[in-house]
Amino acid sequence: MIQFLDLHKINKRFQNEFENAFSMALENSNFVLGDNVKNFENEFANYCGSNYCIGTANGLDALTLILKGYIQLGKLNIGDKVMVPSNTFIASILSIIHAGLKPVLVEPDPKTYNLSIDAVKSSYSKEVKAIVIVHLYGQLADMSAFLEFTNRYNILLIEDAAQAHGAKSKQGLAGNLSHAAAFSFYPSKNLGALGDGGSVTTNDEALNEKIRLLRNYGSKTKYKNEIIGANSRLDDMQAAFLSIKLKELDKDNERRRVIARRYLNEINNLKVKLPFYDGSSNHVFYAFVVELEDRENFINYLDSNDVQSLIHYPIPPHKQTALHHFSHLNLPIAEKIHKRVISLPMSPVMTTDEINWVIKTINNY
Ligand SMILES: Cc1ncc(COP(=O)(O)O)c(C=O)c1O
Repeated sequence: MIQFLDLHKINKRFQNEFENAFSMALENSNFVLGDNVKNFENEFANYCGSNYCIGTANGLDALTLILKGYIQLGKLNIGDKVMVPSNTFIASILSIIHAGLKPVLVEPDPKTYNLSIDAVKSSYSKEVKAIVIVHLYGQLADMSAFLEFTNRYNILLIEDAAQAHGAKSKQGLAGNLSHAAAFSFYPSKNLGALGDGGSVTTNDEALNEKIRLLRNYGSKTKYKNEIIGANSRLDDMQAAFLSIKLKELDKDNERRRVIARRYLNEINNLKVKLPFYDGSSNHVFYAFVVELEDRENFINYLDSNDVQSLIHYPIPPHKQTALHHFSHLNLPIAEKIHKRVISLPMSPVMTTDEINWVIKTINNY
């Protein structure tokens, strides 16, 4: 079976370095917010080109803490509306709810799957105080259009960069294209830990300070609690693993793009709609997503030919039981996307034979 993502093979490459990092951690026994977190925060801030990086327990918390940080700073108020794409992973929407804000689900551009600036313009109202943009499947959203819009209305622009570590445009890297960005280091991500992890990147010094407090019980000095915080620290061991893997991120992303280019050039089946890609580094192919009319048949066919696939995501957020109060919304683009999409195997450790087999199998469908 060609795995969708062979996590074992991905991480096996770093086994010796991981073992050394573990031995050192055991020696130092500084398990919470130790040097590994500080080092990774510096390295990842440098990598993204942003002034600050704050490690968090996961990507959902990173997003939530950005929003709560802005509430602490008086830049958002409980009950404010926040626009978010209707076809994102549910975490982007949950963060808004967890922070006491109101999500406004806005349709994507069906060509890129990213938030549509036209839809944003037509859904805007005075109560909207921020946009959470998602670089879905690893492709940067058109940030210059959104920045112009958020500057015009003086509202906040926040990136959900959970799927886009290392994606780059002329303006810079994911994580440094807005007021603040959230990353997930969930194991399957392009930069994935061996467990949960996340971070915020920002150039906003005041936000950096608030999030450092919020992630650690509202406390800078032990047993002194300045604000009502959470326990959402990036685990020190995970930070050490992430520093090791960060060195390989650009190469891994380039390997993903090489596979994507092969799929785009060589998959030639009218039943399979291939994704839009402009050929640049603005895509890191967290997922290579195709669309089909008869998704179930295709998945069964792939399965019987030893090709594993996944769906990102089978149910649109507003049709999830948890978000039943949004189920009345008319979001036909998201609904259509969620019915048709399938993600093909994509990882930096796929072999040429595996890539060839995926292409051949799809062309024979
Ligand atoms: C777009 C998006 N946002 C947010 C998250 C949340 O990250 P985590 O699972 O680390 O909480 C994820 C990943 O799971 C994601 O894909």
